[in-house]
Formats: sequence, structure tokens, C-alpha cells
Amino acid sequence: MTELTGSPELILGIETSCDETAAAVVADGTTVLSSVVHSQVQLHERWRGVVPEVASRSHTQRILPIVQQALADAGIAASALTAIAVTHRPGMVGCLLVGLAAGKALALLHDLPLLGVDHVQAHVHTALLAEPGLQLPALALVASGGHTALWLLKAPLDTDRLGTTRDDAAGEALDKGAALLGLPYPGGPSIQRAARGGNARAIDLPRSLLGPDSLDFSFSGLKTALLYHLRGPGANLPARALAGDELRDLAASYQEAVVDVLIQKLRRAAERVAVRSLCIGGGVARNERLRERLQQDRVLAGLHLVLPEPALCSDNGAMIALMGHLQLAAGRTSPLDIDAVATPQSAGKAKVRP
Ligand code: KG4
Ligand code: ZN
Repeated sequence: MTELTGSPELILGIETSCDETAAAVVADGTTVLSSVVHSQVQLHERWRGVVPEVASRSHTQRILPIVQQALADAGIAASALTAIAVTHRPGMVGCLLVGLAAGKALALLHDLPLLGVDHVQAHVHTALLAEPGLQLPALALVASGGHTALWLLKAPLDTDRLGTTRDDAAGEALDKGAALLGLPYPGGPSIQRAARGGNARAIDLPRSLLGPDSLDFSFSGLKTALLYHLRGPGANLPARALAGDELRDLAASYQEAVVDVLIQKLRRAAERVAVRSLCIGGGVARNERLRERLQQDRVLAGLHLVLPEPALCSDNGAMIALMGHLQLAAGRTSPLDIDAVATPQSAGKAKVRP
């Protein structure tokens, strides 16, 4: 338990938008007193993706014990909280409703302000939790199973989206690529493991940059290129079982193609918008090759790089509590009848010079 002095602001963050049931207590928007995350990966493994009804049932079973655990780990009672922050968008509505119901009940019971949080914005702002004095504006890459976008973080709660994926998210491309390679779900970590020791230049796979000016992403062609590499164009043969160097080289080449596109788009964005820092968030931001490439990149070297610890990159309650802290400071509390919404907050699109 962390020793608290004075009377800090204590925010409980609740996250149930996808397949993690998570709760955390954050003090003064800077200190994570507790963070409990239950991943449903094993439940969804055999379908190679998240099944919404299975996910929301599991959230229902877990949410109260996880909130209690987060409070116990922080060493506080619910009555000591300052406010409740909860993800209310975007995500699977049945999943969001579980966290929202818990958050609303706690807010009502303890007469606390409720703060409805946008999950994607929480990923964009995570660097402020990793480094509270972060120099802004910052360029933020959010890459997960459901989203891949570049954001300009001008000031807390003031962001513009610079570009987004036109088809698959980076994590989705890794998950589907892993399925083609016969590797387990989720694909990002299993491709990372399989790629260790492999030659990332062994197989020439495409990097779709969508023309010289675009800050958008496209990963569907890469996935198809892998399929054709394994089965031949248009052929409908079952994929061969891969092993040894062949698997290592293919996994490394596929991972490198995804990472290359992310790096090239970051370089492009950094050339066009004046930023002081560069940060990453979302499950794909856990990737060791992406982190290594970012640390070595000469073009991006002029920017202050923030690589939040892996547990803060994938879905967690602490980033939701951080957003709650920022929203509370800005007086943006939510009514108790706030709804669950499947889509993200409509994104301000920045005008950037090509
Ligand atoms: O942010 P997240 O936990 O959940 C959402 O999708 O919102 O991200 C999950 C995604 C999955 O596609 C998974 O394959 C990917 O993040 N991922 C990784 C790694 N760990 C998780 N991708 C690459 N390398 C990793 N180490
Ligand atoms: Zn996420």
C-alpha cells in the first residue's frame, strides 16, 4: 500500500469496453495506488477474437470483485473516493453497460461525481500518467486490436486526429496474420515470440503507405500478401504447418512490415506538425520491436520519447482514472443517465500540410 499524505484526490477508474475487466485507483492524476486487470484472452482464444456476449457475461461476474480488489489494494474505502470514472465509449455496448452500471451505482451510493470517459482518448493521454510533466504538444500513436490512429495531443483534453486506419487496425493485422501462421491468439504477442531470432528481411512483404501525403493506415493488403505467400495467388489450399527458421523468418518479416508502416507514418507526421514529444498507447505499443525501432530512429530522435510501461499500454483502469482526473478539473462531469456508445467521440481532424 502506498502512503498517502494530506487529502489527495482519489479517482476510481473502471474499464470494460472490450475483453479486459479492469479497475484502478489513481491519486491526484499522477500516482497509481492500485490497478487490477482481468484478461479474458483464454475465454476467447478458440474463436480467435472477442465474442461480445461471452465478454459481457464475464464482465458481469468479475466487475464487483475487481472494483473491491482495486479499493483494497489502494487501502481505501469507496466512501473515501473523490469521483468515479468509467469508460462509456467506444466499445461493445453490452460490455460497456456492465462497467457503466457499476460506476453509476457507486456514484449514486456514495454521492460522488460520475465521469464518462472515451477509451481511445484515454490511450492518447496515457503518456501524461507515465510522465506527468510531459512537454506538449505531443504526437501520439494509438495502436490496438480495434484502433490504429495518429493523434496530436495539444493540451490535456484537446486533441486532433491526424490519421486513422482505412481497414484493419495494426493489432487486428497481427491477430489475423498469426492465424494464417498457425500461431495462437492474440496474435501480437505470439508473432513477437515466434519472430525472435528470425530474419526480418527474409520475406519481402508490402508496406502500404497510401501515397506520399497520407497519414492514414491500411493493413489489409499485408494480410493478403501473407496469405498468397503461404498458399499461392488465388489458391485454396490449406496452409502448410510452419516451423523452425521458416516460421521465425516469416513471423519476423510480417512483424517488421507492421512496425515499418507505424514508424514511417510517425516520421511523416513529425515532419508536418510541430511537436515536442512522441508517445504510444494501445496493446500494440507493448511490442518490443516497435519500442526498439522507436528508440533507434534517427528521424524521430529530436523528440522526447515516452514509452509507457506495457501494463499501461493495453487496456487498464488507471488510464480511465487519469481521464477522470482531467475531466473533473475541467468541470466536465457526466449525468447519471449517460449512455454506452459503440463509436468514439467524433474526432477533430487536424488540417496538416501535405
Ligand atoms: O489495447 P488492447 O489491449 O485492446 C484493444 O484492442 O482495445 O490491444 C489488443 C491488441 C491485440 O490485437 C494484440 O494482438 C495486440 O494488442 N498486442 C500486441 C502485443 N501485445 C498485445 N501486438 C504486438 N506486440 C505485442 N507484444
Ligand atoms: Zn484499448
